[in-house]
Amino acid sequence: MIEVRKVNKTYITGEEKLHVLKDVSFEVHEGEFVGIMGESGSGKSTLMNIIGFMDNKYEGEYLFDGKLTKNENDDKLSHIRNRAVGFVFQNFNLIDNYTVRENVELPLLYAGLTPRKTKKIVLEALESVGIPEKIDKYPTQLSGGQKQRVAIARAIVHNPKFILADEPTGALDSATSREIMEIFKKLNIENKTTVVMVTHDRSLASYCSKVLFMVDGNLEERFDL
Ligand SMILES: Nc1ncnc2c1ncn2[C@@H]1O[C@H](COP(=O)(O)OP(=O)(O)OP(=O)(O)O)[C@@H](O)[C@H]1O
Ligand SMILES: [Mg+2]
Repeated sequence: MIEVRKVNKTYITGEEKLHVLKDVSFEVHEGEFVGIMGESGSGKSTLMNIIGFMDNKYEGEYLFDGKLTKNENDDKLSHIRNRAVGFVFQNFNLIDNYTVRENVELPLLYAGLTPRKTKKIVLEALESVGIPEKIDKYPTQLSGGQKQRVAIARAIVHNPKFILADEPTGALDSATSREIMEIFKKLNIENKTTVVMVTHDRSLASYCSKVLFMVDGNLEERFDL
């Protein structure tokens, strides 16, 4: 589904050039749960931005479902992004003055559904992350773990092709982190949801079916975790 071939990314600021991704190649197949690890500043988020259709300024090829996406215009790219990807971030990125229902509903409204049609789908998404009773609360009334559950519900509500999670447990304690990982695992096993997750935490890598390490701008598969 995701095929990255010899991708290079260089940030240029003033006189300075930073070659972050160097001939990065890897694949993610449907149903996989891929972990990406590597030191801070090694380029993990840079890579996430590319495979999440947030950035098409790179050298090399990214094929999604067999199609090159780099030369699409911004409108087409955001259309692909809205349909194909569910994002989960370290800091949850919920809208504080929207209720849980309104936050989770957003991707469906972007997809053109009327509010009447979203009701049942939103509730099902919240049920699958275990907090249907929080539907009318605001994010500020929730714990960190509950906020991340809402963010996961929002990420899966429109049935994306894959979930991109950039350090989804980075702001959570270790017990809550494991609960969140169990949710990803359940979605991966029961719904065959494809997950690509960046993590700093080796102990969480065991939830993944494949772990890739970013080393000197390159991705290496590691089996010895
Ligand atoms: N927009 C940008 N312009 C210039 N340099 C950038 C930009 N974004 C990131 N960088 C640099 O590129 C390198 C890789 O950044 P990136 O955010 O991909 O790292 P990361 O592996 O996600 O790190 P962390 O684990 O801390 O999140 C860093 O040295 C960073 O300073
Ligand atoms: Mg990062």
